[in-house]
Amino acid sequence: MNLSPQDALKKAVAQAAVEYTLNKIDDQSIIGIGTGSTANFFIDLLAEHKAKIAGTVASSEASADRLKAHGIPVYDLNAVDEVTIYVDGADESNPHLELIKGGGAALTREKITAAVAKEFLCIADGSKWVDHLGTFPLPVEVIPMARSHVARELVKLGGDPVYREGVVTDNGNVIIDVHHMCPISPARELEEKINNITGVVTNGLFALRPADVLMIGTDDGVKTVYAKD
Ligand code: 5RP
Repeated sequence: MNLSPQDALKKAVAQAAVEYTLNKIDDQSIIGIGTGSTANFFIDLLAEHKAKIAGTVASSEASADRLKAHGIPVYDLNAVDEVTIYVDGADESNPHLELIKGGGAALTREKITAAVAKEFLCIADGSKWVDHLGTFPLPVEVIPMARSHVARELVKLGGDPVYREGVVTDNGNVIIDVHHMCPISPARELEEKINNITGVVTNGLFALRPADVLMIGTDDGVKTVYAKD
């Protein structure tokens, strides 16, 4: 199958992430699996090594279904003591490895899985690398009855909220995408402020728990980046 240049970079980075992950796990390890097209490449390539995988937890029903279709065991997060490594894509990463996630509406389960994981490996093609977060609209998962209230509060924070029509999250909630927030800095502060709005489940800033490692696919190969303080 012919891949677009961007998908070729996603696949290359997913392959590097599989090798990295296999070096981190033992026969008891649980791997956290993210959501999206880069995570899908990771799942499909990981499946070639499924005999070495004790189990996984998934950040979405879609990823759980894909893992199960490959015959890889998927556990409820409540049933596992530890997640050795969590591997997931992102919509943006800055040099501190603070992320925007949630383009695929899976941000809440992604944030929970990242919170539990000992190590968070983010995988992305080069288009996701930015100096400042916020050009990609920031997703916010919201309890449906709070949608208008949350939108008004987001305007007070300087954003331009847009309801993502027709999308219901795996948790039965809705998504508001907040435009025109660039540059988001400090990201931790905005993450906390938005999470403090009544009716918000969580938002797609991963700054309080950034990635530990980023693998980024470029035309010059896969680069590994560690968080800059
Ligand atoms: C899903 C996500 C994805 O990781 C993010 O949208 C990146 O997706 P892709 O790998 O398809 O570019 O946060 O909620």
